[in-house]
Amino acid sequence: MITPQPNQPLDLLASLRNKLEPISQDHLLSCWTALPEDAKNNLASQVKLLDVALFACQQNILRRERNETDRKIEPFSHYEVSGRREDYERGKGAIACGRVGCLIVAGGQGTRLGYDGPKGCYPVTLVKRKSLFELFCGRVRAASKQVGIQLPLAIMTSPYNHQTIVEFFESNKFFGLEKERVSFFLQGTLPLLNEEHNLFFSASETIFEPSSIASGPDGNGSSLYHFYRQGVWQQWQQAGIDTLMFIQVDNPLADPFDAELTGCHLRHGNDVTIKVVERRDENEKVGVLVNRKNKAAVVEYSEIPAKEAVQRDASGALSYNCANISLFCMDMAFVKKIASDPSIALPLHAAHKKICLRTSDGIVVEPPEPNAWKFEYFIFDILEYVAKSSALLCPREACYSPLKNSFGADSIEPLQQLLQKLDRERLSAITGSPPSALPIELAPEFYYPTQELLDEWKGRKGPYSAYVTP
Ligand code: UD1
Repeated sequence: MITPQPNQPLDLLASLRNKLEPISQDHLLSCWTALPEDAKNNLASQVKLLDVALFACQQNILRRERNETDRKIEPFSHYEVSGRREDYERGKGAIACGRVGCLIVAGGQGTRLGYDGPKGCYPVTLVKRKSLFELFCGRVRAASKQVGIQLPLAIMTSPYNHQTIVEFFESNKFFGLEKERVSFFLQGTLPLLNEEHNLFFSASETIFEPSSIASGPDGNGSSLYHFYRQGVWQQWQQAGIDTLMFIQVDNPLADPFDAELTGCHLRHGNDVTIKVVERRDENEKVGVLVNRKNKAAVVEYSEIPAKEAVQRDASGALSYNCANISLFCMDMAFVKKIASDPSIALPLHAAHKKICLRTSDGIVVEPPEPNAWKFEYFIFDILEYVAKSSALLCPREACYSPLKNSFGADSIEPLQQLLQKLDRERLSAITGSPPSALPIELAPEFYYPTQELLDEWKGRKGPYSAYVTP
């Protein structure tokens, strides 16, 4: 029984109970009388905002048996292989006409990397120690210079990292981009559930009182919805943008203005064009491109059945050989459809995670094993709604080396080695002779060269400074 404080209006507590009791979540109020005023207000505002229907949907997901027909998948083999010059030229033409904008999703928590800050602020380059954000902004700047117009960039943040990211951009003067050409928008959050499928209190807050319901970012699949709802889509559409390049902040080889992918996308008139690479091995933590109900689809590494994950063909190659690297080219009208058509609802996915939790008595519990459920929308689930899509298979070394882990595979070390290799090859290709063995880092202009740059650098022999600029 909850006794209201004298200074607390009865109707507030009663209204919270009225909302929580029918869904059996009134344990959240068990410490109510002991909470100071600001903690009460904090808890009350969260309970008011709690979406009961969505909460029921989260609980159902944890109870649900999977539908076998929906799970039936086959290998995907209708991809094209990259290398068509005409696609590159067509895409470059569209970029130069201002038809393309780039969206970077950067709202994730990057738990595997163990970095105390937004992943986009992580320093990655060998010589200049440029962060991922600086690297991408440099590419946008260089691509803009190449085509002679200022290209637009949108960045999705989450409530957990938004302020830090915006301040990072401001204190670095937007890394040389025009501030007006960079749009930030926020993704949403979803409550976490414990093993009993109930809400619980967050332990990550600085305030000790149990008053913050544990939650997490709602996944990169909510990006198109928020991009549209927060008005960036409308601004871009009015500016004549009809094609969206979607990239993840954790792949430093992603090209924010990928001319070949754009050209391939426009040649087919696709809703979505998917850039893929060959899977490294059966254990790689990547989504797998599959054929489901005669359509391209992606099954996440955490959800693919073991049999299909390891299946090999007669030649010994993985049958499901295409890795989703989350590089997509999208038609803006299709983006609007996904974000605004009420008949479209992307599914929620649940992941079992180790989450520090706070009991109703305010005790922080550090779990040795996964103990709670996190819920996310996945961007590739939009593929179910495409009328037309295709996949472009590209060489891994040119477009995918993600920063996921603090050491080993997909960590900073192999990434820097590859960046170094690519920079040396690029400089050799432009000058006609290899640079010396000393480490170098190329300015982004070398990856989006103007004719003047190519003419000026042809035949050069070095020596070069460690950071090579045009
Ligand atoms: C993701 C893909 C996986 C792919 C791999 C390639 C999804 C659901 N999974 O998995 O199929 O093979 O990348 O590297 O896309 N993000 C947000 N908000 C969130 C969650 C994530 O903006 O709430 C962003 C992150 O900042 C990051 C990207 O989405 O840029 C992917 O993050 P994460 O979910 O950690 O990726 P993976 O699990 O590696």
